[in-house]
Amino acid sequence: MKHLLKLMDWSEKEITDVLNLADQLKYEKKNGIKHHILKGKTLGMIFEKSSTRTRVSFEVGMYDLGGSALFLSSRDLQIGRGEPVEDTARVLSRYLDGIMIRTFAQEEVEKLAECGSIPIINGLTDYCHPCQVLADLMTIREHKGVIKGNKLCYIGDGNNMTNSLIVGGIKMGMTVSAACPKGYEPDAEIMKWASETGRFTCTDDVLEAAKDADVLCTDVWASMGQEAEAEARKQIFRGYQINADVMAVAKSDAMVLHCLPAHREEEITAEVFEAHADEIFDEAENRLHAQKAVLVKCLS
Ligand code: CP
Ligand code: NVA
Repeated sequence: MKHLLKLMDWSEKEITDVLNLADQLKYEKKNGIKHHILKGKTLGMIFEKSSTRTRVSFEVGMYDLGGSALFLSSRDLQIGRGEPVEDTARVLSRYLDGIMIRTFAQEEVEKLAECGSIPIINGLTDYCHPCQVLADLMTIREHKGVIKGNKLCYIGDGNNMTNSLIVGGIKMGMTVSAACPKGYEPDAEIMKWASETGRFTCTDDVLEAAKDADVLCTDVWASMGQEAEAEARKQIFRGYQINADVMAVAKSDAMVLHCLPAHREEEITAEVFEAHADEIFDEAENRLHAQKAVLVKCLS
């Protein structure tokens, strides 16, 4: 049984296979070609945090593939009232063909996979966001022709996005640099693993990290669940922004990615955001195609 709990669990070949299938599914959707590969299958989508892209792209993705999706808010599920995830996993495994879950602790996703008997897909935890980074890799390949050999630079909070970008970027042969304030670096084990490849650096110097970058990425300064810290973080992260100064030291044809939602004039200026809107909204669109490929790989 195939899960997508984190990108670290997937090989370069598995990631490449999913990206190739995603390209094919995108082409077919644009040309009105339908394959109901998941006919009769049902995906449960558990959300313990808000979502626009993940919810809609998974629901439309299941519909496109001939299956159906159930939106399960933790506000309404018994899990929100303390029913153990172990029991929830065993019950839902008897109704559904797969579960996509967005929650706080990575351990909850891992426990769901351990206790249930159906494929589990991570739709974001505090630790990682693998579905987003598959869409990001797809978008990089679309715009740059290849993934391998490009330099990806992430500027901002060392959060779930950073962790997955490092793992995905390194696995696919990129050089990755991160610029994060001291104390807000990505996961220590991921940094250690990435550093051993000789293709990863982390600094608190934004311009040093961005130098000669082919792909610039950023994300919000305060993630979901960190709302109480948002004001303090505005001070801590000031300057950790993709702006004209950063674009000036990156390669002249550098692309910009943002998983969205974006806070203009915080992690990215409105000027850079709009100049790279085509790339950013291709990235958002590619959530649909990349996830359909993940659904085929995990559920069929
Ligand atoms: N990028 C992303 O995961 O968006 P949502 O939070 O809207 O799902
Ligand atoms: N780091 C952000 C990503 C949102 C898609 C968060 O966790 O809120």
